[in-house]
Amino acid sequence: MINASGRVTRSVTRQLTARFADGWRARQPSAEIIARDVGVHPPLPVDEAWIAAAFATSESRSAEMQEALALSDALSDEIVRADAIVLGVPMYNFGMPGQLKSYIDQIVRIGRTFAFDLTAADPYLPLLESKPVIIVISAGDGSVHPGGALAHLNFLEPHLQTILGFIGLTDLHFVRVGYDEYQDDRFAQSIGAAQVTLEGILDRLTTRTPSPGQADLTPLPMPATLAVA
Ligand SMILES: Cc1cc2nc3c(=O)[nH]c(=O)nc-3n(C[C@H](O)[C@H](O)[C@H](O)COP(=O)(O)O)c2cc1C
Repeated sequence: MINASGRVTRSVTRQLTARFADGWRARQPSAEIIARDVGVHPPLPVDEAWIAAAFATSESRSAEMQEALALSDALSDEIVRADAIVLGVPMYNFGMPGQLKSYIDQIVRIGRTFAFDLTAADPYLPLLESKPVIIVISAGDGSVHPGGALAHLNFLEPHLQTILGFIGLTDLHFVRVGYDEYQDDRFAQSIGAAQVTLEGILDRLTTRTPSPGQADLTPLPMPATLAVA
C-alpha cells in the first residue's frame, strides 16, 4: 500500500486505500501488508550521487555508491515482493504530487526495474513481473477524469500508465473520485461508487479465475502480500 497524499486526517485517497487494505486483511487474515507513506515521508529527489551510482555497473559501485542507492533498493524490493499494489494518489496541479514523483524516480532504475539497448528498434525492456496495481485517484474537480469536460487537463493518469508500464506494471485498475472541492452529491456519489469498485476488485482478486486450458479449476488463493506505499 502506497499513499501519496500530503493530507493525513482528511485524505480521500487514504480513506479508500485503508478500506482496501482492511478488505484484504478480512479476506486473508495472515496477509502481510507493506505500508509506504510517501505523502508524509517522501524520498529525497535523485541527485548527483544517486545518478552516478545508478548508471555505474553493480560490480564497479563503491560503498558510498551502494549507500546512495540503499533506499531505491528497498523501495524496488517492496514492489517485487508484493503480489498486488494499492496506490492512493491525489491530483495536484493536474499531475502527481511531487512526493510521488520522487518515489517514482527512486524505483525506475536502469538494470533493476528496466533495461535498455540503444541499438534495438524497441530499446526499452521492463524488468518487473506484472501484478495488479489498484490506483485510487481523487481530484477536486470531477470533470478532469476520463470522459469529462476537462479530461484534456489530466496529465496524471497518462503519466502513471506510461511510467508503470515502462517498468512492467501494466495490469492497472484506476478507481476515481471527483468533486472533493465541491463537497456535493456528485462527490458523495463518486466516493460510494469508488467503494463499490474497490470491493469488486477485492472479490475478483480473491477468486482469480484460472486461464483457459488450466486443468485445476479451483480458485487460486488470494495473493498474500499487498504493498501499500
Ligand atoms: C496542492 C494541491 C493541488 C491540487 N490540484 C488540483 C488539480 O489540479 N485539479 C483538481 O481537480 N484538484 C486539485 N486539487 C484537489 C485535490 O486533488 C483533491 O482535494 C483530492 O481529493 C485530494 O486527495 P486527498 O484527499 O487524498 O489528499 C489539489 C489539491 C492540492 C492540495
